[in-house]
Amino acid sequence: MLEVEHLAVSYGPTRILEDVSFHVPRGRVVALLGGNGSGKTTVLNALTGMVRPRGGAIRFGGQDCAGWRPDRILRLGLAQVPQGREVFASMSVAENLELGAYTRRDREGVRRDTERALALFPRLREKARRRAGTLSGGEQQMLAVARALMSGPRLLLMDEPSVGLAPNVVGDMVAAIRALREEGLTILLVEQNVGVAAAVADSAHVLQAGRIVHSGPASGLLDDEEVLRSYLG
Ligand SMILES: Nc1ncnc2c1ncn2[C@@H]1O[C@H](COP(=O)(O)OP(=O)(O)OP(=O)(O)O)[C@@H](O)[C@H]1O
Ligand SMILES: [Mg+2]
Repeated sequence: MLEVEHLAVSYGPTRILEDVSFHVPRGRVVALLGGNGSGKTTVLNALTGMVRPRGGAIRFGGQDCAGWRPDRILRLGLAQVPQGREVFASMSVAENLELGAYTRRDREGVRRDTERALALFPRLREKARRRAGTLSGGEQQMLAVARALMSGPRLLLMDEPSVGLAPNVVGDMVAAIRALREEGLTILLVEQNVGVAAAVADSAHVLQAGRIVHSGPASGLLDDEEVLRSYLG
């Protein structure tokens, strides 16, 4: 569904990504791992059009969309859950969800997806009228995921959804990602938590200093001493 070939990104003269290639097959969860500053968010930003690649190809559903504007990529079916729970703090939970659907005209589909998002995160249903800024950190992260789902994506990009969450809330997030996979959603999951990636992903790629240094099945990650020690410390 998504094919990234030889992707290169620079900020000014600084090369951030070099020759990054990976595929995300339809219906799969693919993890992108790596330490702070390794380039994970930059990959997602290149996919959603927030930064313009210097080179390489990005094909989504057969279309080469490298360098497209963000709104056009969103309409193509690619949605990003931003790093750091960026919700609209002064708006209610329900209004945040409505905003996630701003590109859509199919009211019935939006209503159905709102229901689906609230079924996935029942804690949000109880708090639909609350201002998003008054939610706990875990609830805000859930809202960020739910809002991204409201655009009706075919591919969901998640940027460290487990970071800063208490262990039981990490468990809720893992369960939600599994449920989305069961529904057939395709997911690219950026993580630093190897346990989360191993629990939900089919395959994993490890970034270091803007290059992919390891690719393989996600289930083997926790047993791969060398990969853990060398790249994921
Ligand atoms: N707008 C920017 N201008 C210049 N350099 C940037 C910019 N955004 C990111 N960088 C640099 O690019 C590199 C990769 O950053 P990126 O945010 O992609 O890493 P990351 O893997 O997502 O890290 P983290 O786990 O901390 O979120 C870093 O060295 C960062 O300082
Ligand atoms: Mg990041």
